[in-house]
Amino acid sequence: MTVIPLALALLALWAPITAAAQPASTGSSTKAPASSILWDGRIPAGSTPALFDSTKSPYGTSSVFGEKLSFSKLILIPNVTTPSLFDAKGKDSAFEVTVSDASVFVPGGNSANAQYGLRRAELNPAINNSVGSPAVSGTKTLHFSIMLDPSRAFNLSHEYQMVFLETADYSNTQFTLKAGTILDGAGVGGDPKTLILTGYGSKEKLFSTPFTSGWHNFALELDFTKNMVEVYYSIDSKPLTKANTAGAVANNMAGGGSYHFGILKKSTGGGSDVVHKGFQETGINEGIIYGGIFIEDSAQGGVTLSPS
Ligand SMILES: *[C@@H]1O[C@H](CO)[C@@H](O)[C@H](O)[C@H]1NC(C)=O
Ligand SMILES: *[C@@H]1O[C@H](CO)[C@@H](O)[C@H](O)[C@H]1NC(C)=O
Ligand SMILES: *[C@@H]1O[C@H](CO)[C@@H](O)[C@H](O)[C@H]1NC(C)=O
Repeated sequence: MTVIPLALALLALWAPITAAAQPASTGSSTKAPASSILWDGRIPAGSTPALFDSTKSPYGTSSVFGEKLSFSKLILIPNVTTPSLFDAKGKDSAFEVTVSDASVFVPGGNSANAQYGLRRAELNPAINNSVGSPAVSGTKTLHFSIMLDPSRAFNLSHEYQMVFLETADYSNTQFTLKAGTILDGAGVGGDPKTLILTGYGSKEKLFSTPFTSGWHNFALELDFTKNMVEVYYSIDSKPLTKANTAGAVANNMAGGGSYHFGILKKSTGGGSDVVHKGFQETGINEGIIYGGIFIEDSAQGGVTLSPS
């Protein structure tokens, strides 16, 4: 058995690599030049959860989720009346990622590694995640919108990680969007009903905002060369604006790796090994809604702030 150092035990999530390179999608619903979209994670209107088990999914199909599950068993197509900022009505669809008691991830199918302390369901873009590959080099902007589902509410006594970039060696995260009762972030916690974006190693807060109902739209301009992050944000259908008056902030972006979209729910009382230990209540049915996920190449066209 591999010995896992403490920092790794907290942060390394042991997701299998989603390797296969796919051609960049075209046909964006935005007015951004199609050539500036590196990868498009939006799904067509009318899609069913079965899409997420198929090769047509823009996401990997084999992880991250509980043993014996598949994405079609945990993804829902929510009844969203207003599309997120970069989803076009009738063209793109929101989707919801859910976790249940069955959401115990077992890396490599080896039961000795079962992550009993976590409940996990996360989508990774089905693109090359090696150090130096296009998604994690140059200047790329990660767009996504996120919304709470009141009928599948989070339990904010726990820490949730919804969107993060995890290094290719699983040793760290370059950024993480969290909510709930933050366990490992001295100084970044506060009201649990807050969306908190932390930087490398979850040490610093890059941005936070109350986790109200409705859409929260993000664009993270990631400069992998200069190691800088600039946060753009808006609510509902409003155009994105710069979130911090200080502008871009220094943040270690080294290590390549995969973007994750979904739910990673930590245990309570897990001490130094929340991945494997601690308390998880039973009978859960929790979800989070996503829309407008895509990666833009900002070396060419900057950051698109609104679809029109
Ligand atoms: C959407 O609404 C229909 C009809 O009310 C309902 O059956 C379905 O469960 C809803 N979908 C979700 C994901 O909540
Ligand atoms: C992934 O990207 C790396 C770094 O650019 C490259 O060396 C490798 O050949 C790529 N792999 C595939 C399958 O395209
Ligand atoms: C929230 O989680 C805590 C810790 O797991 C648990 O004790 C509590 O019962 C949960 N509350 C609800 C409303 O589910």
